[in-house]
Amino acid sequence: MVRASKPPGPDGEGPRRTPRHVACVMDGNGRWATQRSLPRTSGHRAAETAVIDVIEAARSAGVGWLSLYAFSTENWRRPNAEVDFLMRLVRRVVRKHAPLLHARGIRCRFLGATDPRVPAALARDFADLTTLTSGNGGMTLTVAFDHGGRRDIVEAARSLIRSGMPADAVDEHSFAAHLPFPDTPDVDLVIRTSGEQRISNFMLWQVAYAEWVFPPVLWPDFRAPHFLECLHTFRRRDRRFGGVLPHQNGDRRP
Ligand code: IPE
Ligand code: IPE
Ligand code: MG
Repeated sequence: MVRASKPPGPDGEGPRRTPRHVACVMDGNGRWATQRSLPRTSGHRAAETAVIDVIEAARSAGVGWLSLYAFSTENWRRPNAEVDFLMRLVRRVVRKHAPLLHARGIRCRFLGATDPRVPAALARDFADLTTLTSGNGGMTLTVAFDHGGRRDIVEAARSLIRSGMPADAVDEHSFAAHLPFPDTPDVDLVIRTSGEQRISNFMLWQVAYAEWVFPPVLWPDFRAPHFLECLHTFRRRDRRFGGVLPHQNGDRRP
């Protein structure tokens, strides 16, 4: 995380902005399927339409950074058949939509995917899409796959120690430079669908001052209008970053 030159502070009453970085915890696929008496895997398959709709909605709305949580380091605990299905599905989705993502000028990258259980062919497709789109100047799409916020922090600590930096020289800025994709700005808005209200180990460092919304809709039913409603909710929030909004500063002399 490298912050913009100006540190965050209270938003004040200025124009309400589109969040720069939106992150989605795409949750509820299993329940969507169960409600229809279908196997959980059908819910994962149905998630594809929502993913593409949200990418398009975010890009059109002027969101600069979109991060999607697709598979956590804890999701390896799921039954093998479900994990295998997810690996194959993600591979198919990545290959199918690569031309569209590239045509839209979206820069794609994958956060995580370091576990040896990630199939080599899938890792290659991730690398290929990253390379194909690396020169694009549009929205940056980060797919968190085999991602864990704690693992990223531990890896950053290891990297920092290996660099030989003296302990007293370590501050938030130098630490964040050792996280994966250190150019990623802090997350402004996290959307977690399905009504669950948990972080589930998602981008722990980057969400430190994010606004959170928890729409009850299950991810396979989530569409552009839901996404735009979340942006609207965000714009109505006062972001204080520990400070006081200018118009609430009672000590100020007229
Ligand atoms: C999210 O949906 C997708 C992944 C975690 C891969 P879930 O599979 O967690 O759906 P629920 O929470 O069981 O409904
Ligand atoms: C978080 O959802 C991970 C993803 C959406 C990829 P989970 O459904 O796995 O999280 P928990 O188990 O409810 O915390
Ligand atoms: Mg879930």
